[in-house]
Amino acid sequence: MDQLIEKRFSPREFSDKPIPEDHITTLLEAAQWAPSSYNEQPWRFIYATKDSEKEYATLYSCLGEFNQNWVNTPLLLLTVAKLKNSRGDNNDYAEHDCGLALENLLLEAVSLGLHAHAMSGYDREKAKTLLGIPEGYKPMAMVAVGYLKDGKTIEELREGRERKPLNELVFKGTWSTD
Ligand SMILES: Cc1cc2nc3c(=O)[nH]c(=O)nc-3n(C[C@H](O)[C@H](O)[C@H](O)COP(=O)(O)O)c2cc1C
Repeated sequence: MDQLIEKRFSPREFSDKPIPEDHITTLLEAAQWAPSSYNEQPWRFIYATKDSEKEYATLYSCLGEFNQNWVNTPLLLLTVAKLKNSRGDNNDYAEHDCGLALENLLLEAVSLGLHAHAMSGYDREKAKTLLGIPEGYKPMAMVAVGYLKDGKTIEELREGRERKPLNELVFKGTWSTD
């Protein structure tokens, strides 16, 4: 497996060291270059850094209590899916493709020496209202991005990384219930 995939994990202990602006741009470019059905690129991103206190506080206020208790990252962002395609029909792959963009961002973070932790534990309706997200767009994942907490090793910070065995997930040829 590629090192980037091996090194990626979802930490809950971050340093609050700021992220250089060009790294933030690189993260968003990585997401931008994800593949999408009919190249619709149905992803949008809203981000805030700790430098912009009010903007950051607004995004942070949407998080659920569990996530608020550990999120201290210099960068918070929200991925948003555009639900209709360019012909005005439902895009059944909008959320799927948003996930592809998210994974690009998560892996690029590792490549830049950062870590990123996706979250569904936030108030979607509150996010829509406070962030002015229009009808036809669905907030998907909040993402906390930062450097790992100083003095902590990756092994110390990794938790719950078990995966189901491949034979439960993969069928050769046709679906199998064995
Ligand atoms: C869409 C999505 C939503 C998630 N929501 C949360 C969350 O609200 N809070 C949290 O602490 N972790 C959240 N996670 C992180 C998962 O718990 C984590 O990815 C999973 O346990 C596997 O661990 P790993 O990412 O370290 O490999 C979320 C991950 C994804 C992809």
